[in-house]
Amino acid sequence: MTAFAHVATYAQLPLRILRGSDCRLTADDGREYWDFYGGHAVCIAGHSRPEIRDALAAQADALAFYSNVLPLEIRDRAAERLTRFAGAGMEGVFFCNSGAEANENALKLAIQRTGRTRIAALTGGWHGRTLLALSATTDAKLTGPLSPLLCDCVRVTPNAMDELERIDDSVAAVLVEPILSIAGIVELSPEFLQGLRARCTAVGALLIYDEIQTGMGRLGRPFVAGAHGVRPDMLTSAKGLANGFPAGALLMSGEVAASVKLGDLGSTFGGGPLACAAMLATLEIIERERLCDRAAQIGTGCRERLCVGPVAEVLGRGCLIGLRIPTGAKPVQEALLRSGFITGTSADPTILRLMPPLTLPQAAIDELAAALTSLVRGAAPETAPRAAAVTRERL
Ligand SMILES: Cc1ncc(COP(=O)(O)O)c(C=O)c1O
Repeated sequence: MTAFAHVATYAQLPLRILRGSDCRLTADDGREYWDFYGGHAVCIAGHSRPEIRDALAAQADALAFYSNVLPLEIRDRAAERLTRFAGAGMEGVFFCNSGAEANENALKLAIQRTGRTRIAALTGGWHGRTLLALSATTDAKLTGPLSPLLCDCVRVTPNAMDELERIDDSVAAVLVEPILSIAGIVELSPEFLQGLRARCTAVGALLIYDEIQTGMGRLGRPFVAGAHGVRPDMLTSAKGLANGFPAGALLMSGEVAASVKLGDLGSTFGGGPLACAAMLATLEIIERERLCDRAAQIGTGCRERLCVGPVAEVLGRGCLIGLRIPTGAKPVQEALLRSGFITGTSADPTILRLMPPLTLPQAAIDELAAALTSLVRGAAPETAPRAAAVTRERL
C-alpha cells in the first residue's frame, strides 16, 4: 500500500479505535477512552447501538436500496416521524446525505423562491464545503482560491442587534447555527434570534437554522427551532440524524414545502431505505430513553463540575459544551487524550469542545473533572485504562 491510499487531508488524533460501545471506545493497544467528541458530534445515542444494527440488518434483508423514483413506505414513515419530532411548524422534509448538502439545498431553495442571489450568515458560522454552504462559512483556509466562485454573503456579528439592518431585501436567506459550534461555542441571545426572525419577515428573506450540531436533542430539546417563540422557515439536520449512518435532511415549513415544484431538488441516495431505517431507530431511542432530558442534565453536570483546573469558564448547554482555557485548548486536549478522554478543539484556540453522546453517564463527567484538576497539579499521567482482552487479532 502506498502512503497515499487515504489522502492526508485530516489532522488526526494519534490513536486507532477498534470498537465503540455507548460512550466508551477501545483502541488497538487495549486502552479505553471516554468519548467526549461523539464521533464528531454524530453518535447521539452512543456507539454501536444494537437497535440500530438490527434495524439496518432487517432493512438490508428486505430492500437495501431504491431511489426516489419509487415511493417507499419506510421513507414516508421517516419523514413523518422526523417532522413530528421537530415540531416548530416543520411540515415537509427533503432527504439528502450530509450536512453540507442539506444547507446547499436550503440556500438553493431560498434563491429559487425569492429570485435573489445574495445570502446572509453570521461571522464565524460554519456550514459545509459545497459552494453555497461555503459562501456562508467563515473560514479563509477553505474559501481561499474558491472565493470567485462563491455567492455574495452579507456578514452579521453574532448578537449584534445593530447589524440586523444589513439584511435587506436583496437577501434570499439568512443561515445561522443557533449555537456557533466550530467558532468556539458562541451562544445567540433569544433577543438576537427574535430580531433575526423579525428582520427576515420584514424584508422577505427566509430564516434557515443550521441544526446539524444543535439538533436531534443535543441541546435538551429536539431542535432549537421553536424556542424563544422563533420558528425558522427551514432547518437542516445531519450528523446525529441517523446516529452515524450517513443522512441529511432539510425540514421546511408548510408554506415553503407548498412552493417546492417537481424537479426543484433531487438526490440519488437521499432518503435511501437504510438511512431511513437508521433514522427511525435513532428517533425511537431518543424518545424512548428521553435523551433530550438526559442531554439537559449532562449540560448541567458539565457546568457544575468542569470549571476546574485550567478551565476558566464553561460555555454552551446540553451536550454541546465549550471549556474556556485561557492558556490554550490544544495542550489540554493532548493531555486529556493521554489520560483517556477524547475531546475536540475549535476555531478559537482557547475553547475545548465537548460533544458527547446524549447517554453520557455522570461518572464520565466526574472522571473528566478529576483529570482536569490533576492537569494543574502537573500530574496528567498516562492513565487510559487497558481493557483486559482486546488484541489486534480481533480484526
Ligand atoms: C454546523 C455545521 N453545519 C454543516 C456541517 C457540514 O456537515 P457535513 O460534514 O455532513 O457536510 C457541519 C460539519 O461539521 C457543521 O458542524
